[in-house]
Formats: sequence, structure tokens, C-alpha cells
Amino acid sequence: MPQSRGSTRREFIKVAMAAAVAPTLGFATQAAEKLSLELPPLPYAYDALEPYIDAETMRLHHQKHHAAYITGLAKAVEQAPELRRKTLEELLLSLSSLPESVRTAVRNHGGGHYNHSLFWQCLAPKAQASPEGPLAAAIARDFGSFDSFKESFTKQAMAIFGSGWAWLVWDAGKLRVETTPNQDTPLGVRKKPILGLDLWEHAYYLRYQWRRAEYIAAFWHVVNWPAVAALFHNLVQRA
Ligand SMILES: [Fe+2]
Repeated sequence: MPQSRGSTRREFIKVAMAAAVAPTLGFATQAAEKLSLELPPLPYAYDALEPYIDAETMRLHHQKHHAAYITGLAKAVEQAPELRRKTLEELLLSLSSLPESVRTAVRNHGGGHYNHSLFWQCLAPKAQASPEGPLAAAIARDFGSFDSFKESFTKQAMAIFGSGWAWLVWDAGKLRVETTPNQDTPLGVRKKPILGLDLWEHAYYLRYQWRRAEYIAAFWHVVNWPAVAALFHNLVQRA
């Protein structure tokens, strides 16, 4: 059946968004053959996510915390310049084969760079409440319903002891919720994160203090579902 002009346009937007997001995250594209040590600009203003995530938190989080991870990774690259020949994702997938002198720095600072680059893309002002299309269908298939997915994600995010991340990952053909401690990523050879929530206190303490549950509830108001769907689409296309 021929596609309508509307659905063709939606498909174009999805693919264009996937192409825009993928290089930042080090997915295997021609443009991402080398390690990026640039702080990616936010795709919105620091105050764009108010009142759910405040402007000061966003500014410090991006300009100080994310930037510090890149500085830490750059110091590791000074010690081992050959790291530049791999994408960030490739480095994180091959931690055990990296020189021991830089392995922990790449894991922590490289992980921080990767996780935050994804996190910014997962957020948007005036976001829609839930995904549509194939991602919505996959969530319903793998979790029972969107509400069940949110419940599982929230429960696991609340259970993280100390600092870490909650994720929606594509794992060999199935969507799963996972958590990682510190700046570890959930990356695996056949596993990719498509949505992440930063649960370090620096991500929410100014506005929410100890009230992590309120921060998680606010997060659902600013999830950029079209961007998450674009990452999902990109992975399904490559599977
Ligand atoms: Fe963070």
C-alpha cells in the first residue's frame, strides 16, 4: 500500500533524527570514526525543561559535570593517543583490552561522556506523554503496557543505592529496564541504551533535594519520545 504524504514525512523526520543523534553517541557511522572530545551543545535552552528540571541544574550539569567527564577522558587520551582511533562506543565496548593505565579513566569519564550525551537527547520541552508507532508496540509487547514499563523503570530507578543510571535498553531484540552504578554504561555487543535517567544527586538535588521520587515523576514530563523512537528505529534497522 503506498504511504501517505504524512507518513512519508514522519518517516523522514525519524530517520533524520536518528542520523543526527547517532554520531554524538558514537554509533558506527562514517563521521564517527574518531573519538569526539567536544561537549555536545544542548538541543534546547537551559531553562527549556522548567518547571520539571530547573535551569541552574541543567547549566551546571552540562557545563560543569559533563564537561568534567570530557576533561577526564582527554587526560586519558594524552597518556594513550591511540584511543582517538576508536569511537567512544568502541572504547567502552573494549575496556578490558585497553591499557591498564587508562582503563578506569575511560570507564568512568568516557562512560560519563557517553551517558550524558544520550541523556540530553532523551529530554525535550513540551514533550508528548508516551511514544507512538513501533516503539510503543515494542514496549507493550515486552512490558505488557506503557504504564507497566513506567512502573518497572521507576521502581528500579528508586532502588539504585548511591549514584547511577536507569535505562531502557534494546537487548538482542527485546526491550528491558536496567540500572548501572556510577558512570557505567549498559552497552553490550547486542545491547544498546535508548533512554537513560541520570540518578546522581547532581542531576536533581538543587530542586528536589532528597526527593528522588519527585524527580523521577518529573522526568516523565520531559522525555523526548520521538528521539528515543529514532534511536530504536536505528537499532532495529541494523539488527
Ligand atoms: Fe549527571
